[in-house]
Amino acid sequence: MRGAATALLGMVLLVSGTATTLQAQAKPGAATLKNPVTPTPDAIAKGKQAFNKACRHCHGPEGKGDGPLAQKDPSPADLTDDRWDHGSSDGEIYTIIANGLGGDSKMKGAKSALSSTEMWQIVMFLRTIGPR
Ligand code: HEC
Repeated sequence: MRGAATALLGMVLLVSGTATTLQAQAKPGAATLKNPVTPTPDAIAKGKQAFNKACRHCHGPEGKGDGPLAQKDPSPADLTDDRWDHGSSDGEIYTIIANGLGGDSKMKGAKSALSSTEMWQIVMFLRTIGPR
């Protein structure tokens, strides 16, 4: 399955035509998506709630990738370090939360479980636990 995922990734990179970065793009256009939610303390608190509901069991209570259901190879990403393998902009992170990473990745999209406002609030919460 690794081969298939790599081939798919190659196609995505080819189609998006942005060979400017070696990072895998979440989706063409994702980087320019703008966060429509104002980062108030209330919005960040709601983001934390949604994170606890939908992400904590894998990514861990502090986002370090050590939740009780964390799988191995690959394990859930540490969301508090400055390494973003799939894009670090708000829009790219939002797109990963909404659609997942595709292929056989354990990182599945959450858009059927969360509203888009909740997913943007999670992005804002992640900014408070990781690098800005
Ligand atoms: C079933 C376990 C699981 C759940 C639930 C889950 N994730 Fe993930 N997540 C993963 C795994 C595993 C990876 C690494 C995937 C890979 O590299 O293929 C990942 C990767 C990511 C990445 C990419 C990080 C990077 O370095 O680019 C982001 C962002 C992310 N998850 C955010 C979230 C958020 C936010 C939620 C809650 C809405 C969530 N995840 C729910 C397992 C999970």
